[in-house]
Amino acid sequence: MKEKEYLWWQKDIIYQVYPRSFMDSDGDGIGDLNGIISKLDYLKDLGIKGVWISPIFPSPMADFGYDVSDYTGIHSMFGTMQDFDLLTKEIHNRNMKLILDLVPNHSSNEHQWFRESRRSKDDPKRDWYIWKDPAPDGGPPNNWLSVFGGSAWEYDEQTGQYYYHAFLKEQPDLNWRNPEVQKAIFDAMRFWLKKGVDGFRVDVMWHMIKDEKLRDNPPNPDYNEKMNSYSRHIPAYSTDQDEVHDIVRKMRKVVDEFDDRLLIGEIYLPISKLVRYYGEDNQGAHLPFNFQLLELPWEAKKIEAAINDYEGALPDEGWPNWVLGNHDKSRVATRVGKEQARIAAMLLLTLRGTPTIYYGDELGMEDVNIPENKIKDPQALNEPGVGKSRDPERTPMQWDDTRNAGFTTGEPWLPLMENYQELNVTEQWEKKGSMLHFQRRLINLRNGEPALHIGDHIPVYTENNLLSYMRKYKDRKYLMVLNLSDSEENFKPDFNWRGKVRIATQPEMEGEELGGELQVKGNLGLVIELD
Ligand code: GLC
Ligand code: MG
Repeated sequence: MKEKEYLWWQKDIIYQVYPRSFMDSDGDGIGDLNGIISKLDYLKDLGIKGVWISPIFPSPMADFGYDVSDYTGIHSMFGTMQDFDLLTKEIHNRNMKLILDLVPNHSSNEHQWFRESRRSKDDPKRDWYIWKDPAPDGGPPNNWLSVFGGSAWEYDEQTGQYYYHAFLKEQPDLNWRNPEVQKAIFDAMRFWLKKGVDGFRVDVMWHMIKDEKLRDNPPNPDYNEKMNSYSRHIPAYSTDQDEVHDIVRKMRKVVDEFDDRLLIGEIYLPISKLVRYYGEDNQGAHLPFNFQLLELPWEAKKIEAAINDYEGALPDEGWPNWVLGNHDKSRVATRVGKEQARIAAMLLLTLRGTPTIYYGDELGMEDVNIPENKIKDPQALNEPGVGKSRDPERTPMQWDDTRNAGFTTGEPWLPLMENYQELNVTEQWEKKGSMLHFQRRLINLRNGEPALHIGDHIPVYTENNLLSYMRKYKDRKYLMVLNLSDSEENFKPDFNWRGKVRIATQPEMEGEELGGELQVKGNLGLVIELD
């Protein structure tokens, strides 16, 4: 029988760069493409393969680049098209891959398409966006709410109609039922693919098609006043419509016009709905992002159940993936605590499926408290009090202990964490016992060990706050024993085993031979190679 072949995005690790905050080369306090280029050796040495960069396109920055005003350009703040071409070349020279963010659900209100669309009701671009007459009382056409607060409909004086925006009013939704819109975005994808881009992470994929009749969304029975206003409704008609799968399939076709490219979808949905995005016969997204580790309480049994649910729900040949952090969610070290952040990294890097690491999480960066008057995130500014600010997880990368952690010679766009003196790349790289050293070794082990990157997942034993599982490829077997709490737990498997600790959160245990039942100290995590 022929050996099954695995693709780069199945075996290897993806790393998310938030470009504003990664590395600033020109002293304007905002990260840029030349900054990223200067840190590619770091990513290479860390053991990363896929570099996903959040939007770098021209944009008025109402939502920090997720409001695109030109789908085939580079924002001058980040650099030029030449810089971009150099970045692509330098990434490929290091045998790494480049993944861009594609934001097809909405454009900026300053995009030429929208400027034309809003001019008149019979403009050829009118139908490129979602325009509707007011309700009989003059109010919005239906009850849909914006994710960022308030109605999702904005009234436009000039033509007397409302347009729909799932996010900010500066982010009008494109009408994906219109074939011209489809073609325009597919052509933009081809533009980047021809330049050698290796794939896309597609923003809010599950939002792309809305109910044709624009029916009202039903109320959410679990809503309470502490939640943001969007949670008042269940977005049954404004998101995850059946027809979205045709669009995803078409996007995949575009990607498949080129060799070995990757299509990732950003999708916040329960597992049963999420896995539909793999598409029929796996002709949808290669990797519908799996955000369970971002959303679940940090409890062994819940996580174990989610892993098993997910493994069970995956279509044949559908490849799993796991995400532990991104630019929209509180950092993992803040969510679960510093000690448990190591366990979380162990989990991410030993579960079956492609891991995505959010920049800085490899150092254990935490959310940074941003004073009220320095808040930049529109999600928080729009709904003061309830709108969660995403600034805390977007602060500059901590490279060294010099001023501004070596991120910029200017004024950083967001304040840095005070702990950067100790918590930085230079300090931690070689330092035994540091988070970076720990993660670097985990990554290294994973990359070199088929059982860990392509092996099967086998649930083993989960009780109280202890989570354990095995990974197996041919005769290579690994056992992971993770204590998700700070108190001692017992590992009592119903089978015999012996093995050697390869990586431990307590490094003095590495190399130890273990077997049978174990008393597992609080915050202890073990990666054990079985005999
Ligand atoms: C996605 C992005 C988020 C952005 C939103 C609107 O969820 O990750 O940062 O605000 O889409 O584009
Ligand atoms: Mg800059």
